[in-house]
Amino acid sequence: MSDAALPATVADVPTPCLLVDIDKVKRNCQRMTDTARNMGVQLRPHVKTHKTIEGADICTAGTRRKIVVSTLNEAEFFAANGYDDILYGFPISKEKIPRCQRLANQLSEFHILYDSAEAMQWVQDAPLNPGKQWSVILKIDTGYGRAGVVWDSDDVITVAKAAVDTDNVRFHGIYTHCGSSYDCTGVEELKTFGTTNTDRLITVRDKLKSAGIACETVGTGSTPSCSKPADNMAALTEFHPGNYIFYDYEHVRIGACTLDDVAVRVATRVISHKPSKKQLVTNSGFTSMSQDGLKQVGDEFCVIQDHPNLRLVEMSQEHGKIRPATGDIDFTDYPLGSLLFLYPYHACSTAYNHPFYYVHSGEKIVGVWRPTRGW
Ligand SMILES: Cc1ncc(COP(=O)(O)O)c(C=O)c1O
Repeated sequence: MSDAALPATVADVPTPCLLVDIDKVKRNCQRMTDTARNMGVQLRPHVKTHKTIEGADICTAGTRRKIVVSTLNEAEFFAANGYDDILYGFPISKEKIPRCQRLANQLSEFHILYDSAEAMQWVQDAPLNPGKQWSVILKIDTGYGRAGVVWDSDDVITVAKAAVDTDNVRFHGIYTHCGSSYDCTGVEELKTFGTTNTDRLITVRDKLKSAGIACETVGTGSTPSCSKPADNMAALTEFHPGNYIFYDYEHVRIGACTLDDVAVRVATRVISHKPSKKQLVTNSGFTSMSQDGLKQVGDEFCVIQDHPNLRLVEMSQEHGKIRPATGDIDFTDYPLGSLLFLYPYHACSTAYNHPFYYVHSGEKIVGVWRPTRGW
């Protein structure tokens, strides 16, 4: 779509679509940049939420350096657009080595994440150009229970040592994604969580140090924990949050931001009235909203802007069903074709469903962002 074909205002957008409030994006990014700077920690924003050059340019304040990606598709997309110092923040697998090899040769800094000694054999078997070394970061599981070497296991030393003992490898440090911060509610819980998570990571760092292995990077990051950081997080070297560029209703519920910080909404239109069920039907089903949150919190999973009594109660592929939480609904307030704006539960999964995002400042559409897709 050429910019000439852009709708003039938010009221004119084709629906369903994702709206990005550029002023809120800039504010959210500035706040996270300030938080990291004030704590003396390097911000390495994760770009998986938006997957766009425009978004990453704002998150990196135009430096085009120091980002985390979740897929090699993102790494290649950002590298092709002038980005450098990229961390592929997903445990390396053998089939991905040739693509990583190309990126490591092409960029001045490309880091891979690993969590097994076996992975070091794969990189040993894949030499880089003369003068180049693989830069590897050990993924630690500080309690989330996903990938990573468990923080208090002896494997931490063995797996780190495997990198140190591999010829063409530079052991760069440790990384944890503290995804359990999403189970917290309120600032106090977030800070207690952040303190424990950091203590565990520091324990790993110190254990490695005692074994003669230095960590240049000691990083953690999730949007909840970095939005309300614990004091001891200043002992870390890097934060890796990503969702904060947009935030979402889940972060409002957690207490990591306010509804006014949420920079993304799905615009949808009323397409049918069902008086017998007190129900509005819209053209936004799970393909534009995602199912995230519906299972966890039922019909409290999203907010319909300016209509606090309305709930999105059910979705099929392209239809949404909206009913009042209490009392009746006056259908004359919602004529067919009228616009509603939904704050999604989890911005990463909602944004992922959209081939492009309409960017607005106030009511004016000012641009369109085209995310990269794939793996
Ligand atoms: C490995 C890793 N690092 C960083 C992040 C960023 O966390 P958040 O989405 O809470 O900003 C994620 C998100 O899933 C992740 O998987």
